[in-house]
Amino acid sequence: MKFDKNILCIGAGYVGGPTMAMIAHKCPQYKVTVVDINPERISQWNSDELPIYEPGLDEIVKAARGKNLFFGTDIEEGIRDAGIIFVSVNTPTKTFGAGAGMAADLQYWEKTARQILQCSDSPKIIIEKSTLPVKTALAMERILTSTHNGIHFDVLSNPEFLAEGTAISDLESPDRVLIGSRQTERGLKARDALVEIYANWVPEERIITANIWSSELSKLVANAFLAQRISSVNSISALCEITDADITEVAGAIGMDSRIGDKFLKASVGFGGSCFKKDILNLVYLCRHYGLHEVADYWESVVRLNDYQKERFVLRILTDMFNTLAGKRISIFGFAFKADTGDTRESPAIFIAKRLVEEKAELVITDPKALKNAKIDLDGLDGNISYVEDPYDAAVGCHAIAILTEWNLYRELDFEKIYRSMVKPAFIFDGRNIVDHKKLFEIGFNVFPIGKSALTHF
Ligand SMILES: NC(=O)c1ccc[n+]([C@@H]2O[C@H](COP(=O)([O-])OP(=O)(O)OC[C@H]3O[C@@H](n4cnc5c(N)ncnc54)[C@H](O)[C@@H]3O)[C@@H](O)[C@H]2O)c1
Repeated sequence: MKFDKNILCIGAGYVGGPTMAMIAHKCPQYKVTVVDINPERISQWNSDELPIYEPGLDEIVKAARGKNLFFGTDIEEGIRDAGIIFVSVNTPTKTFGAGAGMAADLQYWEKTARQILQCSDSPKIIIEKSTLPVKTALAMERILTSTHNGIHFDVLSNPEFLAEGTAISDLESPDRVLIGSRQTERGLKARDALVEIYANWVPEERIITANIWSSELSKLVANAFLAQRISSVNSISALCEITDADITEVAGAIGMDSRIGDKFLKASVGFGGSCFKKDILNLVYLCRHYGLHEVADYWESVVRLNDYQKERFVLRILTDMFNTLAGKRISIFGFAFKADTGDTRESPAIFIAKRLVEEKAELVITDPKALKNAKIDLDGLDGNISYVEDPYDAAVGCHAIAILTEWNLYRELDFEKIYRSMVKPAFIFDGRNIVDHKKLFEIGFNVFPIGKSALTHF
């Protein structure tokens, strides 16, 4: 079959897989190929069990796969065949050399740019889908024009704003699609080619265009603002716990102010995920690089507050359980960094589990989708840790439950049955404020929510 466009995506991860599946789903007239250096990941994308869990993803992948959506490992052939190349390789925090622990590690991205240059025999539009420091496109352009082979490349920035857990609905109905380009005749033409793809299903007014640097920077800033709201509400949760104010009431009252808005005001054990911390640190690094130390300090405090909130949660468990956790069994309900995903990257559960093991607690971890990743994250940890699918089984013989992920299924559990199976006094630390605290207290639990007074029987 002859397709109108050949689209390639390099990087078959949490972003590359779902975004390309959505393009293929909405645009049967385009051929969409997703390639990766990791053959195992590609064979999972070609199997019945996809490498990532996202509600609604299975259906759209399985409907388009083999028709106009293809997953493969032949990156060179993919590059030669495509006119439009999305790059969604990972850009983790650098762990070595200058900027270690702060700057973005651009080695995967740069390797990809060089490979594109090497394998291209026709002009291409290269799209930055990965989150990158502002001005990366300049480096890309320099690499892509380094051989003067006469082939023209246009670099666009098209950051991805999907949230894991709601990726498919976010992609289907995005708040906005942002496309940054050079403001030259060629740059604008390339931009229009990308607008044309999204216009197949995204309303025109939601496709916004910008200069390429604004687009690159907007992604870092969006994540910084989202994380800052979480740290802001979490900072107040600490104050609520010692003043008998209630964070849900405070958040409700301030959120009704239309200037503030009610989204992202839920107090919790802290934010996680592969992006927030990494992108803020990247922003901090950029600010320091440009000598803006006050700006850097301001954003860095968002990450510091998040670390404080996780440590505060651990200390609360310790102090409220009579200052010793040695030999006590604690069940961790939820290991994913948020509900509806199996992703555990930077999940608060990793830090909390490690700290509880340091205190010599025994851990029983349960999660509907993330147990496989939890085992990898805690591999080699010297402690007594077990992994149990069923939350009822996980709670048996435990002294405490710590809820770390807001899975809906935890709201609906039979806590009377759970209480009966636990060691008394039984404790519950609700790191997401998702269960009915009063009801649990009446059952007999000692209940410790975030940002609210504890309900205890002693
Ligand atoms: N995960 C999210 O929710 C999210 C949301 C928005 C933006 N982003 C950004 O998107 C980018 C990708 O994130 P992700 O979560 O999909 O990462 P990921 O680690 O899940 O996927 C990246 C993939 O790229 C592959 N890869 C690395 N180098 C390669 C190369 N040279 N050639 C081919 N494949 C290569 C890896 O094998 C991996 O499968 C990051 O910059 C991230 O910050 C992520």
